[in-house]
Amino acid sequence: MKRRDFIKTPLIVAGATMLGKVGMVSGLSGVAHAADIAFTPQTNEGTHMEHTLPPLPYAQDALAPHISQETIEYHYGKHHNTYVVNLNNLIKGTEFEAMSLEDIILKAPAGGIYNNAAQVWNHTFFWNGMKPNGGGAPSGPLAKAITEKWGSFEEFQKAFQAAAAGNFGSGWTWLVKKADGSVDIVNTGAAGNPITSGDKPLLCVDVWEHAYYIDYRNQRVKFLEAFANNLINWDFAGGNFTG
Ligand SMILES: [Fe+2]
Repeated sequence: MKRRDFIKTPLIVAGATMLGKVGMVSGLSGVAHAADIAFTPQTNEGTHMEHTLPPLPYAQDALAPHISQETIEYHYGKHHNTYVVNLNNLIKGTEFEAMSLEDIILKAPAGGIYNNAAQVWNHTFFWNGMKPNGGGAPSGPLAKAITEKWGSFEEFQKAFQAAAAGNFGSGWTWLVKKADGSVDIVNTGAAGNPITSGDKPLLCVDVWEHAYYIDYRNQRVKFLEAFANNLINWDFAGGNFTG
């Protein structure tokens, strides 16, 4: 099967399975496109949970010119998909093969199984945190929490951009909800995920070079500006905050 066929057609239903598994705990179930799909975990002989590449919540060219179709084809179609394939191969015959994605992230030791599980989860969350004609500012309880933390949305934006620009090497920058209900910015390296520290992810940006190199070459800051001004889905982040 050619790569493009693999991306486009057979994964819609199967992909919903993993999105459902993520959504059960993280709030992704609030995503509009996922709400209409029944979540039935795929199993193999009752013990092996096959993880699948979730469908994108928009067309592959929908974020252009801020994120090009070519970037999506590589980042989603190759990088994200490879994490899914690697995870399924690594968990075969282990105690992790019947676990949900989130349980693997919480229970696996540092190493390949954790890394691939977290990268599957992180990328799904990243895709859902963007939309065509996104950006702008949040409203409602999340807007209030951001103002309480940073004084204004503008100051939050500066802090988030600075954290993401300064996140050394490959990693992720997150807006999270703390256990006390306040919000904060967290940088993680490599395949880090804030749920392992007890924080609830609200929004994230991927700062691995593969996220921006095709469109912005080495200019991570330009990618971050496009993310903030044109791509962030604040409804998604706000739903995670109140959900
Ligand atoms: Fe990535």
